Amino acid sequence: MADDSSVKPGLITSIFFEIIQSPLNLVLVLLIVFLVYKIIKSRQSDEPVREQIPELPKMKKKDFTVEELKKYDGTQEDGRILVAVNGNVYDVTRGKRFYGPGGPYAAFGGKDASRGLATFSVSAAGEGYDDLSDLSTVEMDSVREWESQFKEKYEFVGRLLKPGEEPTNYSDEEDEPSGTGESKSKDD
Ligand code: HEM
Repeated sequence: MADDSSVKPGLITSIFFEIIQSPLNLVLVLLIVFLVYKIIKSRQSDEPVREQIPELPKMKKKDFTVEELKKYDGTQEDGRILVAVNGNVYDVTRGKRFYGPGGPYAAFGGKDASRGLATFSVSAAGEGYDDLSDLSTVEMDSVREWESQFKEKYEFVGRLLKPGEEPTNYSDEEDEPSGTGESKSKDD
């Protein structure tokens, strides 16, 4: 009768001896151990990098004139960045790598980005308030589509005020944007 219990240790032992007796096998095993170690190490060092991005406290709801919006281009001490789209202002600070100084869309930081987004041009908005009245229906649809992306990703802060328009008195409970329809709608 074969004794099973003596087979298993024998097999493991023979594999072990096979590995250490052949220099090539030994080198391969060491290489595998080294690579596994490297993979584990790189995963661990990734984590703190992601956590380093500091979150700013949520901004109190407030409406902005074009002039008031300008300073929120990420160059202030707290680095807050606001962007207006379709008459609503969003806090895009967590998209600093896009809208912050030196970012590809820095021209939108502290500005009304509507016209740029509609015309697919990353250029600074004009100085004053832009009523977008010359944009086509297709372009306005594009602005609204962009806004829905902003709404999904970023916090709504308030509305962009037309010249002479009174700011809204936001209560603490009010959390949602007043709706795209209420701002610059160009519905026919
Ligand atoms: C060669 C042309 C372009 C390329 C290759 C490009 C590439 C990209 C890529 C890869 C992203 C996604 C980045 C990510 O989520 O990690 C992005 C986002 C974006 N792009 Fe562009 N882009 C181009 C032109 C433009 C133009 C002309 C505009 C403006 C009119 C624009 C506005 C935006 C905006 C607003 C975002 C969203 C950023 C966010 O998530 O807040 N892009 N682009």
